[in-house]
Amino acid sequence: MPNLVPDLIAPGTLSGVPQPVLTAGPGLLLRPWTAADAPMIVDAFRDPATRHWHCRSVESVAEAEELIDGFTRGWRTETSATWAVVTAGGEVLGRVALRAIGTAKGEAEVAYWMRAAARGRGAAPAGVGAMSAWAFGVGLHRLILNHSTRNEASCRVAQKTGFELEGVRRSAELHVDGWHDVHLHALIGPSDQREDDPLGPYRAAG
Ligand SMILES: CC(C)(COP(=O)(O)OP(=O)(O)OC[C@H]1O[C@@H](n2cnc3c(N)ncnc32)[C@H](O)[C@@H]1OP(=O)(O)O)[C@@H](O)C(=O)NCCC(=O)NCCS
Repeated sequence: MPNLVPDLIAPGTLSGVPQPVLTAGPGLLLRPWTAADAPMIVDAFRDPATRHWHCRSVESVAEAEELIDGFTRGWRTETSATWAVVTAGGEVLGRVALRAIGTAKGEAEVAYWMRAAARGRGAAPAGVGAMSAWAFGVGLHRLILNHSTRNEASCRVAQKTGFELEGVRRSAELHVDGWHDVHLHALIGPSDQREDDPLGPYRAAG
């Protein structure tokens, strides 16, 4: 049966090119992960907040390598796009990602964590901002962002990058300490008739 609404992004548009390196502001880059980052991921997941909010642990380099394989596979299959947030000097600060990419409908879900020592300097919003600008540039239309209502730092990332609060998904995520209500935020691409440019401060300056 013919589809009356065309796919927003033709199959192969993302996977047909290497995953790009993105500039996320002065001295900050987003680059694809490599196997060499595995020990850093193990270290990042020693942080209790990272384990708590992501409901998982990464105990060994082998497990981290599996995770990184998944990031690479996600690009190849156009289902996710995951970047390391790094300084110009090469220090890895954290991760930003688009997951559950739906190329037909043009939607994806934003995810992120920063290493404990890298928090509080705006790296997550800068990374999410640059990644979102890229996503709208390749034709995605709507990005969603979910976080536990108890995760105030994550809510601040959503607010700083212009993801509007659409509602509370009640008792939507099971964490180790029980069910959490979840904020659903979303940001619509350039076709939205907004006068402001919420990603403006996070667009790379050339
Ligand atoms: C949520 C998170 C990604 C924010 O990253 P970030 O780069 O620190 O973001 P920002 O620098 O913009 O700080 C966001 C908020 O974190 C809080 N914060 C500031 N310094 C902090 C620090 N040193 N440690 C922890 N939180 C801090 C503040 O509330 C800040 O909001 P403000 O700028 O209005 O004061 C990061 O705290 C993190 O990785 N947390 C653990 C994992 C997690 O929660 N992932 C998201 C799951 S939905």
